Amino acid sequence: MRILGFESSCDETACAVVERTGDTLRVCSDVVASQVDTHRLYGGVVPEIASRAHIEAISSITYEALDRAGLTPADIDAVAVTSHPGLIGALLVAVNFAKSLAYANRLPLVEVDHMKAHIAAAYLAGEGDVPKPPFLAAALSGGHTSIYLVRDYTDHVLIGATRDDAIGEAFDKVGRLIGIPYPAGAGFDRLAAEGFRLAAGDAPDPLAAYPHTAAYRDPAMHLPSPAVAGDSLDFSFSGLKTAAVNLLHHLEQTGEPLDRARFAARYTWEAVDAVARKLELALRRYPGLDLVVAGGVAANSHLRARLSRLARQYGVRLFLPPRSLCGDNGAMVAAQGVYEYLAGHRAGTSLNARATDD
Ligand code: KG4
Ligand code: ZN
Repeated sequence: MRILGFESSCDETACAVVERTGDTLRVCSDVVASQVDTHRLYGGVVPEIASRAHIEAISSITYEALDRAGLTPADIDAVAVTSHPGLIGALLVAVNFAKSLAYANRLPLVEVDHMKAHIAAAYLAGEGDVPKPPFLAAALSGGHTSIYLVRDYTDHVLIGATRDDAIGEAFDKVGRLIGIPYPAGAGFDRLAAEGFRLAAGDAPDPLAAYPHTAAYRDPAMHLPSPAVAGDSLDFSFSGLKTAAVNLLHHLEQTGEPLDRARFAARYTWEAVDAVARKLELALRRYPGLDLVVAGGVAANSHLRARLSRLARQYGVRLFLPPRSLCGDNGAMVAAQGVYEYLAGHRAGTSLNARATDD
């Protein structure tokens, strides 16, 4: 079975073909037209510009995805599209395109939740090992910081979430203040690596050594944890972001130089530590379940290292999509589309986009 997947919820226009043979999913083609260079000029995504750029790109990337896979619409069994959550004007582009394509080619149409799609990227390991429900999943992106109990491929129970800002947004907004171009996640990652090395010297694992260093204890660099206190699996990233903004203002006002790497390490530490702590709580609550961590922020090298250690400690398996499939793409939408299709879920021509989660 072959599914054509479409994605246009934010600043990536994407189309991919995924094939299911037996229980294995294979990416036949995966085309992403990124708009980040355009939005970088404004320091973040401008929704109206995003919608227009999606309209310009969607037709040609569809031809490209089919061409690269050596297929025509006649070889496709169903069309899957992200219908929510995201920027409404942006979502509408792929939803309408997918609806027309499905209608014109008499193909079934399947709607896909963007966060479920991020998690489904973990099913695309080719011949490699893939997670099987039930498992725990963290979807960490520019707009979401959510923990799910995935009871089945299409049955995701939200058990923790951010109460305000998302983790990716927290990296992007503070990154911008220290001069990292949008989207700041990858630049932050590199700068923090330098900061961890500076703090921990030649320790074999600078990230693990970091909380025992003088740099970590420095009161001038103190930042609050975005993990909500207590038994909840929720996060609050706005407090971390505001404290970082205040710290940066304070340094500016007193004329003290900013050690960007040291700051990036401290900030990253708090973000990563909060995710690790809440996932540890989830692993205790649901013993023995494997763990999937997906979404753009799952590309973070420090997060990957810390969560690998956590999974080893709890004797569970950690599934991380390849970095190339952590950010928004069409293959993850097609992958989730496979399971929505198999569950009998179908969307009609009345399908609409929704900005919100449900
Ligand atoms: O999933 P995604 O591509 O789009 C949304 O659905 O939002 O996630 C984008 C987010 C951005 O905030 C970006 O800065 C962040 O993922 N990101 C990272 C890294 N690479 C991308 N955050 C931390 N470390 C990274 N290496
Ligand atoms: Zn996303």
